[in-house]
Amino acid sequence: MKDLTPPRDTLDPIEVASIDEIRARQLERMKWSLRHAYENVPMYRQRFDAMGIHPDDLRSLEDLAKFPFTYKDDLRDSYPFGLFAVPRDQIVRLHASSGTTGKPTVVGYTRNDIDMWADLVARSMRASGTRPGDIVHIAYGYGLFTGGLGAHYGAERLGCTVVPVSGGLTERQVTLIEDFRATTIMVTPSYMLNILEQYRKSGIDPRSSPLNVGIFGAEPWTNAMRREVEDAFDMHAVDIYGLSEILGPGVANECVETKDGLHIWEDHFYPEIIDPETGEVCPDGEMGELVFTTLTKEGLPMIRYRTRDLTRLLPGTARSMRRMEKITGRSDDMIILRGVNIFPTQIEEQVLSIPQLAPHFQIELKRDGRMDAMSIHVETAPKASDSEARTASAQALAQKIKDVIGVSTDVVVGPPGSVERSQGKARRVVDARPKE
Ligand code: DLL
Repeated sequence: MKDLTPPRDTLDPIEVASIDEIRARQLERMKWSLRHAYENVPMYRQRFDAMGIHPDDLRSLEDLAKFPFTYKDDLRDSYPFGLFAVPRDQIVRLHASSGTTGKPTVVGYTRNDIDMWADLVARSMRASGTRPGDIVHIAYGYGLFTGGLGAHYGAERLGCTVVPVSGGLTERQVTLIEDFRATTIMVTPSYMLNILEQYRKSGIDPRSSPLNVGIFGAEPWTNAMRREVEDAFDMHAVDIYGLSEILGPGVANECVETKDGLHIWEDHFYPEIIDPETGEVCPDGEMGELVFTTLTKEGLPMIRYRTRDLTRLLPGTARSMRRMEKITGRSDDMIILRGVNIFPTQIEEQVLSIPQLAPHFQIELKRDGRMDAMSIHVETAPKASDSEARTASAQALAQKIKDVIGVSTDVVVGPPGSVERSQGKARRVVDARPKE
């Protein structure tokens, strides 16, 4: 793989500023953000007042811990525009979550917010190894989801040629990558596996593709998956993180030269890790729930937003700003099976460690008498599809899951193509337990 480390003089000065400088900028911006929220959003004013706390009480960054949390339900309860901090006519863009349960959550951006977002996605792409002039194939969904348009504006800002394909029509994705000679692809990791599969079906060697960088996010994925995709395409696979409530893609991104976790763009977002049970702030290095406070956002300032994503904060490496470790999972996706906590990423690691299995999987939760049970649906790699190989790989996977994670599971190995394919975010868990 090519060395794509961006030249130091192309970075934003704040990316390599001293920690003192970064902290000073954060404090100044945090004061502004708390005041902006308090003065313009009734919910924040009521909550701060009820706790007897005022934005002027923030003297240091640590004082943030005295302020109340914000939850996804707060967005739902103020549907659609109740948490916006500017008059509606200053909001130039809306995005929304699909809202599988209840009302969708709606987010709004001012002109300045859109500008900052484009800057941060451009910064993320540069960290990933993309250069001005590159051809960027965007297969994140366009529309209310922030992935497509978020990536799009950033790629334009960096000075790339953008191919706004969106998700789906996998055969056409391959044709366009090949014909337009895309050098960067932005897509969910699970959909990248479909594109890989389509390469093989079309008889094109993925290693000969023009791609040299993949910027993958919007769902958890493991270092095992990184190796799988990097080997298959002979390209760099880099992690991008974000969430619509805080921005969309571009809150944090890995650097291609280190691939050691995601640098959080701390000049715009202040991260905390908390104990999800007690709400106490944890020291850097400890695992817990990631909480973000926006420092510059005008349309929808978020104070101590509970992401439900589990990770830990680590010191900066390739950049001065702190890193977050690759996300283990969301607290909502944690499966508790006979007392053992399991995340789909742990299953992914084990599936990918068995070469006879394809990298696609889905977890099914069932009720077995009075006990919960779990089946893992996987499929054989195209080269290993006879029934003996299937039985052997089912046993191997069940054994690995037992040894490494500590639970007994059913493994169902189907023929190639039998596991549901994703067009965007993969559905890793299907809960087939009877509703109480
Ligand atoms: O998924 C924004 C995004 C688009 C990020 C494209 C990266 C690329 P939401 O739909 O609001 O926004 O979902 C946010 O997705 O809280 C995480 O649980 C998960 N997520 C996003 N990026 C990653 C990642 C977009 N790199 C939720 N690793 C977040 C693990 C991720 N989980």
